[in-house]
Amino acid sequence: MSSLFAVIIFILLILLGGLIWRVRHRFFIPLARLRHTLSVLGAPPGHSVAATMQAARSQLRAWAGRAHRAERELALLASVLEKTHDGILVVDDDFRILFANASASRIFGHLGASIKGRRLAEVARERQIYEGFQRALGERRAFEGRIERLESTGRKTFQFQIIPLEAGKAAGVFLDITRLEHLERVRQEFLANVSHELRTPLASILAYVETLLDGAIHDAEHNVRFLEVVQKHAQRLNSLVNDISDLSAIESGHVQLEPTVIHVRHAVEDVMETLRPRADQFDVRLINAVPENVEIMADRRRFEQILINLLDNGIKFNRRGGRVRVDAEERAGETAIIVADTGIGIPPSDLPRIFERFYRVDKARSIELGGTGLGLAIVKHLVRIHGGKIAVQSQPGKGTQFTILWPMKPDQGDGDRRSPHPHHSSVD
Ligand SMILES: Nc1ncnc2c1ncn2[C@@H]1O[C@H](COP(=O)(O)OP(=O)(O)O)[C@@H](O)[C@H]1O
Ligand SMILES: [Mg+2]
Repeated sequence: MSSLFAVIIFILLILLGGLIWRVRHRFFIPLARLRHTLSVLGAPPGHSVAATMQAARSQLRAWAGRAHRAERELALLASVLEKTHDGILVVDDDFRILFANASASRIFGHLGASIKGRRLAEVARERQIYEGFQRALGERRAFEGRIERLESTGRKTFQFQIIPLEAGKAAGVFLDITRLEHLERVRQEFLANVSHELRTPLASILAYVETLLDGAIHDAEHNVRFLEVVQKHAQRLNSLVNDISDLSAIESGHVQLEPTVIHVRHAVEDVMETLRPRADQFDVRLINAVPENVEIMADRRRFEQILINLLDNGIKFNRRGGRVRVDAEERAGETAIIVADTGIGIPPSDLPRIFERFYRVDKARSIELGGTGLGLAIVKHLVRIHGGKIAVQSQPGKGTQFTILWPMKPDQGDGDRRSPHPHHSSVD
């Protein structure tokens, strides 16, 4: 009996041992591992199971949050890469394109089709590009270069850089510098023009002064005339320097506008008053046909400068007995200011270029009349910085008409439209 009891106890002990072993393996050991993991991750030791589970849950939540943020940042980065204006290509050591953003596809793809997966040689025939990738992939050295490509919109220039990435990959970044190069060319041309324009009157002044000093000063017949020539060239230098510095200040954005409400008819009247002696000298009549109620927002001095330039042209490129007329009307949310003359007109082939700096249909005549060839370039920029536009129409032998479209005053929106005024009313 006692031996049976001993056997039962023995069996129970074995079962209990097995149970403890299983509990230990199924529960305590993983828990201890979890605790260890958590302690490694920074959870305080000695916590209860529930607290440990809680800590684990919040840890997981934090990881999920971080993963989510990282994913968002990656997506942001990918969209920046995709949308950036620079073309980006990633190529593997088989010269196959692993990645190409939209700009790269636009530069190298046919009609902008994606070039991902294609071979580099198929899309970029320029030796330089191929060599650049070869060097970046083989020698792991960066490469810089410049290429020109003929595109449907014209010739384009790209500056590029190829850089090695992780083993077996290299990235090329292509920057479109066509516009920059164009601006640089324009700037250099302008500088060359400026020095040429300044040199001519300066050379005359030096020559005449030298002649005077050489004895002509005592020549009662010529000395005054020589001095007058010197004066004329000095005046020309003065106008040139004024116009050049004005133009470059306006172009570089250094002109601060102080817009006020301008009563256009009054402003035109003031300018005409100033120019009346010049108009009389050319026997040209000035007509102010601007209706009473037209107002615009503009910097007063700059608006007058625009009018002076246009009226001065209208006067001096006119015929004896001719007219220059200024008119204004409201057109679809804009105020149109029209300066029309009955002068010599501009040939159609010159018309598109007259707003360029120093462009003149007849240079000798322009200089003779005291012009610098910068007036219309200044006008164009002044109109533009006010948010307006200027256009020109001309008929050689008949006359020229400049139309400025000025943005409507803020309080002249659709809710507060003035009634259109008859504009071919008065005079003329
Ligand atoms: N109203 C006009 N009638 C005829 N030609 C004009 C007129 N306005 C401008 N032009 C032409 O455009 C050129 C450029 O004008 P602008 O820049 O004002 O230079 P300028 O110093 O000669 O007045 C003039 O030289 C002239 O050839
Ligand atoms: Mg002019």
